Amino acid sequence: MSEKKKIDFEIIVYDSIEELSNSERQLIQNAIQARKKAYAPYSNFNVGAAILLENGEVVIGSNQENASYPSGLCAERVAIFQAGARFPGITIKTIAITAASNNYIVENPAAPCGNCRQAILEYELKQKEPIKLLLMGEVGKIIQCNAISDILPLGFSNTFLK
Ligand code: THU
Repeated sequence: MSEKKKIDFEIIVYDSIEELSNSERQLIQNAIQARKKAYAPYSNFNVGAAILLENGEVVIGSNQENASYPSGLCAERVAIFQAGARFPGITIKTIAITAASNNYIVENPAAPCGNCRQAILEYELKQKEPIKLLLMGEVGKIIQCNAISDILPLGFSNTFLK
């Protein structure tokens, strides 16, 4: 007998960074600074990510493109792999992400791509604590997601590999 199930999740939409807590606003500022270090000569789409760890450290990343396009990497994975490499075992609290184009104003919050969601999910499952996301364009509203698993429902995990 089939069963219909619904998956839903909550987000918080902030009108501006002024509505965020001091530490969240600071993390967004870190992501904006990271975004300015993007190497994106092919897409002209600059993304910055800033990760707040439980020990107070902030790890940043920006997208790094390559003439061989698939060899480039998104800002989120540059940041999360750096966090994993530099601070193994330290809980990841929040990731702030911001995007800006050289060609137009990005007004909608930038959401991580599917590959980045999967990469971040690995750490969320490992630490058994949700990773909060703060998503922003260049201007405009900010979306808060309370867990990466919320935006990657039915995600792949190591439970399949046992
Ligand atoms: N990009 C990111 O850095 N993060 C995302 O979540 C989406 C896309 C980068 C990859 C590429 O350098 C550029 O944005 C255009 O896709």
